[in-house]
Amino acid sequence: MARGPNLDTFISAADRALRALLAPPASGRPVPAPLTKDTGPKDGALSPEERRESASLMRVNHAGEVAAQALYHAQALFARDPDVREFMLHAAREETDHLAWCETRLKELGARPSVLNPLWYAGSFGIGAIAALLGDKASLGFVAETERQVEGHLKSHLDQLPPGDQRSRAIVEAMCHDEVGHGRQAESAGAVNLPGPVRELMRRTARVMTHTAYRL
Ligand SMILES: [Fe+2]
Ligand SMILES: [Fe+2]
Repeated sequence: MARGPNLDTFISAADRALRALLAPPASGRPVPAPLTKDTGPKDGALSPEERRESASLMRVNHAGEVAAQALYHAQALFARDPDVREFMLHAAREETDHLAWCETRLKELGARPSVLNPLWYAGSFGIGAIAALLGDKASLGFVAETERQVEGHLKSHLDQLPPGDQRSRAIVEAMCHDEVGHGRQAESAGAVNLPGPVRELMRRTARVMTHTAYRL
């Protein structure tokens, strides 16, 4: 039976938020690329410029995964149908793997995550809550559109990442595979198409985040 959030679900949501921001993400799946003797901050396969470029792109992806966690957490919290809530929580767990992979790779590249991650989490949580409060079908539509845009973004990173950075590329490819899966599952669960202006607003909001996280 459908039920709204109660105190327990709010406490769980707060716990998930703190874990996403403060605890080292626990990945259920290993990083989808073997560690080689060349992997790491002294990676001989990458020039200093290439390493800097990889780090900036992986910082953007890490921030994107923080935002993805927040969206799914909020959409789970305000979902009406328990099956929709479970779908959102399951997707959020896969996003936790992505977060862990990006964090691992950032460390290997000798770089830090975005200092604005709490802001990305808070803003995305608010957006996810609005999507969820519009109803489950709209919320699923938001997932389908978000994942479509994330897929395009990750594919653009595959064009931009240095060809020698096989480990980052393998991570981005595996993430892209999961994001396509999330979008398809949302569609088959009854997602509605979002209006064009909403899709454009989502694109612009994501652009602000990706451009800022590239540097900060
Ligand atoms: Fe992801
Ligand atoms: Fe996803």
